[in-house]
Amino acid sequence: MSLIFDRYERVIDYMRISVIDRCNLRCVYCMPSSGISPFSHKDILSYEEIIRIVKVAAGLGVRKVRITGGEPLVRKNLEYLISSLNGIYGIEDISLTTNGVLLAEKAFALAAAGLRRVNVSLDSFIPERYKEITRGGSLDTVLHGIQEAENAGLSPVKINMVPVKSVNDDEIQHFARLTIEKPCHVRFIEFMPIGAKDAWSREKYISTEEIKERVSQIAPLEPVKLRRAGPARYFRFSGAAGVIGFISPITHHFCGSCNRLRLTADGKLRPCLFSETEIDLKSSIRMGSDDSEIERLLRLAVEIKPEAHAINQQQDFAYLKPMSRIGG
Ligand code: GTP
Ligand code: 5AD
Ligand code: SF4
Repeated sequence: MSLIFDRYERVIDYMRISVIDRCNLRCVYCMPSSGISPFSHKDILSYEEIIRIVKVAAGLGVRKVRITGGEPLVRKNLEYLISSLNGIYGIEDISLTTNGVLLAEKAFALAAAGLRRVNVSLDSFIPERYKEITRGGSLDTVLHGIQEAENAGLSPVKINMVPVKSVNDDEIQHFARLTIEKPCHVRFIEFMPIGAKDAWSREKYISTEEIKERVSQIAPLEPVKLRRAGPARYFRFSGAAGVIGFISPITHHFCGSCNRLRLTADGKLRPCLFSETEIDLKSSIRMGSDDSEIERLLRLAVEIKPEAHAINQQQDFAYLKPMSRIGG
């Protein structure tokens, strides 16, 4: 089995693939209420193109694939893509990040296709508030989706919560308490200046330190070592069934252990979430490139992966391309 390293001796074995930039919600921090004008069908990679890219990437050493969006479950017949990726030699783990709206109806088919786990975005347990944050989403539908994901064996389910001051930060402890009984992962993500213009401000942002402080008021937290933890750092309450993760893109550089490449819905290779540098793989493929050219471009993306992002060193945060186009 091959391994690919970047210039800073990081092993690159994980690819995040955004399969669509459309979404069936309009979260206030992510999109304007009108949505963003989506790519047309011909602008996004076909499943055959994605499968071809992943085959080449697996030959280089990619072992883990995460399907993202927009909302990936909005794309038709995602089960086909998942089962095809599952059949690629070298791919060991396929997971999905979703808002959960369509999860109840799709969880069993996704699991049967070879999906291992899901991460679900959920920012409130108060139905009215959830509706406001997502501009129209139904909390019950998502809770049912999480339940069905667990029933289908897509576990542990990871719940991603973005605390925003005066919006949902009074629910931090409620989210943390869930892990006492449920064997899930609850992860708090620092609010990032990415996505909807003017949504982010220093006043609304809450640091991991502050979130953790509020969680620790419930009971002391013990550090937990998880294999392949990714960008999250994990803790648990003594004797709890689940764990609590903190994802701190603003205050904590996890760049040193970053193992990922991103493929955007419109077929660009993006070496770092916070850098606008992209390599246009789609155009190359559509001009007739063979697999060795795809391999060369993948190697180039690994080669130019920056050592670290500088988002927490800037005075004014730069807004990047919408999250729904990058895939988080
Ligand atoms: P697993 O560790 O495999 O569960 O995945 P994950 O935590 O990377 O996946 P998920 O899609 O749930 O991402 C959660 C949050 O972490 C999102 O807000 C992402 O934008 C953020 N995130 C994921 N990867 C990176 C990264 O490479 N850099 C930064 N700064 N943030 C990331
Ligand atoms: N800051 C932090 N997290 C964000 N997400 C989307 N936009 C932002 C933002 N501006 C999260 C979603 C989802 C994950 C993929 O990214 O809530 O859980
Ligand atoms: Fe859709 Fe996710 Fe953006 Fe919410 S954060 S609008 S669920 S892409």
